[in-house]
Amino acid sequence: MNIAVFLSGTGSNFLSIARAAQDGKINVRIVLVISNREEAKGLRHAEGMGIPTTVFDRSKWADGNAFGQEMLKTLNSFNVEFIVLAGYLKKIPPLVIRAFSKKIVNIHPALLPEFGGKGMFGMNVHRAVIEAGEAETGVTIHYVDEIYDNGEIIDQRRVAVLKNDSPESLAARVLKVEHEFYPEVLGRLAEQFHGLKPQN
Ligand code: GRF
Repeated sequence: MNIAVFLSGTGSNFLSIARAAQDGKINVRIVLVISNREEAKGLRHAEGMGIPTTVFDRSKWADGNAFGQEMLKTLNSFNVEFIVLAGYLKKIPPLVIRAFSKKIVNIHPALLPEFGGKGMFGMNVHRAVIEAGEAETGVTIHYVDEIYDNGEIIDQRRVAVLKNDSPESLAARVLKVEHEFYPEVLGRLAEQFHGLKPQN
């Protein structure tokens, strides 16, 4: 399954997926990495692995529709079949969401539908979990629609919140789980995808 990974920051999830793909553990090929920020560290990781990268910065486009069209054109030119969001902090243009219906997934560092929605990203999520006194948090992988953190949940994994956790210590424990969980779920989705594809 040819995937594009979208990221805005470090790209540690991108790396875990890229390694699983490289090692032949999952039937996935990363054909393109897209970021909204030229400075995103994840782009440097991709370049180092010889994976094509491109930047789509919405602020450089006057027209939202043209922006979506150009993104779609790029995705098609790389034969992208499936989109994987890994720490991507921007909305996907509606045009792309419609063209890739049920073919865009995201990872969220909490148990959705709790602790999701606008503003719930990065350390904000873990801080909110600790402030709410939760004994458990986790990781959610879900399909993406036009509303933040709203699409159908594919799978979740639970992570304990420890008594003395800081948002940082909790974030680190959750991220470690993400690195195993995302490639595993993508591997499953790729198998389903190949099953659904017409054979010729
Ligand atoms: C992860 O915690 C992910 O759940 C969230 O953004 C973070 C991305 O981290 N959506 P990284 O850039 O993959 O290191």
